Parts: sequence; C-alpha cells; structure tokens
Amino acid sequence: MNNSVSLEVLTRPPVQVPPHPQWPVLTEAELNAAKARIKQLLESRDAVLVAHYYTNPDLQELAEESGGCVADSLEMARFGTIQKAKTLVVCGVRFMGETAKILNPEKQVLMPDLNATCSLDEGCPAKEFTEFCDLHPDYTVVVYANTSAEVKARSDWVVTSGIALPIVKYLAQRGEKILWAPDKHLGRYVQKLTGVEMLLWQGSCVVHEEFKAVALERIRKLHPEAAVLVHPESPEAVIGQADVVGSTTALIKAVQNMENKSFIVATDGGIFHKMKQLAPDKLLIEAPTAGEGATCQSCAHCPWMGMNAVQNLEQVLRSGENEIIIDPEIREKAVIPIQRMLDFARTHQSDKSNPG
Ligand code: 13P
Ligand code: SF4
Repeated sequence: MNNSVSLEVLTRPPVQVPPHPQWPVLTEAELNAAKARIKQLLESRDAVLVAHYYTNPDLQELAEESGGCVADSLEMARFGTIQKAKTLVVCGVRFMGETAKILNPEKQVLMPDLNATCSLDEGCPAKEFTEFCDLHPDYTVVVYANTSAEVKARSDWVVTSGIALPIVKYLAQRGEKILWAPDKHLGRYVQKLTGVEMLLWQGSCVVHEEFKAVALERIRKLHPEAAVLVHPESPEAVIGQADVVGSTTALIKAVQNMENKSFIVATDGGIFHKMKQLAPDKLLIEAPTAGEGATCQSCAHCPWMGMNAVQNLEQVLRSGENEIIIDPEIREKAVIPIQRMLDFARTHQSDKSNPG
C-alpha cells in the first residue's frame, strides 16, 4: 500500500438486518392480471417505474415494458431527471428514492416500502458522520450514494460504484485528501488504485460482506475457464481474485461482451435476471457465501431490495402513499454534490479503469 495512505478505524456497531420478506406466490394468471393493473395505474398517475437490477424479475420486466428503466444507481439517478412524468416510482432502496426526490423536487416520488433501507446507509448516522467530518476540515468529503439525504448534505461529492474511481482520481490530481464514507471495501479498493490519502468510515454491505475468498478460490479451480466478476462492495480478498471489478452495469456488460462462456458472479443474485436475458448462452455461477450453516444473511439477496414486490407496488400506485419527503434545507445542500457527480459523468470522458 502507498505510504501516503492513512486509515482511520472507526468501529461501527452491527446494523439490524430484517428477515427476508416472504411474498405470496402468484399464479401466472394472477401475476399477469396484476401487471396489467399496474400498467394502467402508471398511466393514470402519469408515473414511471425506476427499478434497480437487484429487484425481483417481475418488477424489472414491468419497468421495461412500461417505458421505465432498470439500471444501476447512477443511471437510476440520471433517468429520473430526463422524465416528463409527474411521478417517479422507485423500486429499490430508500437512498435511491431520496436521490430521485432531491434531483426532482417538483415530482412526486413513491416507493413500494419506505422501510427498504441499506446497511451502508444505516451504518452511517448523520450526527456521527458530521462530527467525524468536523474533526477533519482539511479533507474533501466523498460519500457513496448509499447514504441518507442528511449525510449527502454534509458532503462535497456523491459517487456511485460506477463513477467513484474517476472522481477520486480527479480529486487526487488536484492534490485533495479524501474523507470517504461509508463503504470501507469500496473505499479501500479506490484507495489502492489511486494511492490518494483517504480516511475511511468503517461501513459495509451485509450482502457483499458475505462473499468468501477461500471458497471462491476453490470454485475458481473447478471452473478455471470462468471469468470472476465482483462488485467493489465485496471484501478485499474477493476483489483481489476478480477479472472485472465494477458496478452492476459493468458486471452485466462483462457477461455480454467478454468471450468467456462462464462467469463466477459476486454480487446480489437479483442481477442474474438481466445477465440471463442479455446472454442466455453463458453459464452463470454464484460466488460462494458462508455456505453450509449460513444464515439468511448469506443468501446473496439484499433483504431490503426484497421489500419491493408486485403487491406493494400496486398498493402505492392506488393509494399514493409512501411518498418520499425531504426537508427543503437538506435538499438544497444535498443536491449540490449529487449534481456535481452527474455533471462530472456528463463532461468527463469515460476512463478505461472506471468500473463503469
Ligand atoms: P450499483 O450502483 O453498482 O448498482 O450498486 C448499488 C448497490 O446498492 C450495490 O449493492
Ligand atoms: Fe445496501 Fe448492500 Fe442492499 Fe446494496 S445490496 S442496497 S449496498 S445492503
């Protein structure tokens, strides 16, 4: 590791992880009827669906069939800003809905379940984060999109996994030191590639944290021809074995574009739907988690993403409940670093080492 790198260890208390929601299984006829009703409701509300790749396949299909989008968090943020629709219905986790509202205050933003949070967001409370920033006034504050509106409001830059590396490289070239929050694994990965001095908040994603490096080595031996695709929220020893490290979009593109016939994938299992759709002839292997004796937490499915379903989507479209509301003062501050990220994404040519 570069000598100029400094790490600040802040031990964080564990985040409460909810059980995986169990949704009643719908027959094909029930599902088709629900989808038809949802499409009508979207039209009558002048609403568009913005879904993440980790949400269940029915929601991803509904978003695409109704003129919405399925994307990574950077593209979800961008997509909302170019929509004419009065309402954005965000199927994903709360920070995605908040980002949509911050960027589009004139629009109504609804979510199927406002309790759909994220362990990174939960592990970075605004008050403690602000105190941490205040202790280090000479650092540029860069926060991952997976944070609350309040945390974003205290930052200089917001980044997603798709653009973190080029933004930090750009800041490093300007001689800036970085205070990074909340994901320690993504932070360490960026730190290693840029050599920039960074203070790292010690947050992590409960889903990606479960990928196991030793078991991955074993699977790689069984499938030596397979390319290893890893989301950078994974532990360092897992990232170290990757052929491609990148955002959900970058991992999907890798399956589509690489010549390999098989892939070992270390990210939430929801991504397999889009991968299979775009590359039906490729073999997709789940990267190993805790394996035998594992808890529900080790299933490689985000429990908060799982709170989105056809049933509660229909319910919010009928009732208009679960609206995202942001304090105007917080919104005014938080929009600056988010817009900075979007402007950077627009104006800077994509960097070859950008996870994409
Ligand atoms: P992406 O921006 O790569 O889609 O990541 C979002 C996320 O929450 C991954 O766990
Ligand atoms: Fe947060 Fe991890 Fe879920 Fe992504 S997968 S939303 S980082 S808890």
